[in-house]
Amino acid sequence: MTFKATVLTLYPEMFPGPLGVSLAARAREEGKWSLDCMQIRDFAADKHRTVDDTPAGGGAGMVLRVDVLAACIDHATELHPDCPILAMTPRGKPLTQARVRELAAGPGVIILCGRFEGFDERIFQSRPIEEVSIGDIVLSGGEPAALMLLDACIRLLPGVMGAPSSGAEESFENGLLEYPHYTRPSEWGGRTIPEVLRSGDHAKIAAWRKSQSEIDTRLRRPDLWERHDGARVQSASGARHEKKDQGK
Ligand code: ADE
Repeated sequence: MTFKATVLTLYPEMFPGPLGVSLAARAREEGKWSLDCMQIRDFAADKHRTVDDTPAGGGAGMVLRVDVLAACIDHATELHPDCPILAMTPRGKPLTQARVRELAAGPGVIILCGRFEGFDERIFQSRPIEEVSIGDIVLSGGEPAALMLLDACIRLLPGVMGAPSSGAEESFENGLLEYPHYTRPSEWGGRTIPEVLRSGDHAKIAAWRKSQSEIDTRLRRPDLWERHDGARVQSASGARHEKKDQGK
């Protein structure tokens, strides 16, 4: 089955961009995913092909017009009625690996990319659109965010990633950051590889990796650690308690 990516943008020349090299490019050549970019401007009704206007109530910048957006989205959904519609915006719900997994398992995505100050809000009131953010940063437009989302989906498509296990153990797949990696040379700049990784004892290596993964998540991403199923909270006395014992 081909994963169908439809991107609605004012800058179709930004695609496939980085998805035109390496893994994603090969997967596209093999028909594992397809890309169709639609120029939002083609759906403007006036002779100047206007797509934006000044914000109601005043203020800086321009806003994408709802009538133009609706015409473009409706065209895309007619072609791909089974695909969810996503809009890339810093006002959206933060993207997670779990959502990426769901999307990658589906028929594809229609992705609306914003520019300027954003979209006329009525587009979200009138069409079933999921607003998605790729993080608490502001990009110049939704296109780089769409590329990130597509990259994350494409690498999960069946047959795209060389070794399937390299996906199962990586960051976020189990709600934790991945453990650190090392490779040859075994000594470099006076630094060595942790002894356990050279022991050949697979059970010990697995235990070390699990523990590193937990330590790193706790220190670097306390938000993830807090949500992690197996998380236990270290009390001031050093005793370890189940989360449910914390009266939360
Ligand atoms: N467009 C601009 N900033 C964005 C963000 N953080 N996520 C998704 N789309 C965006």
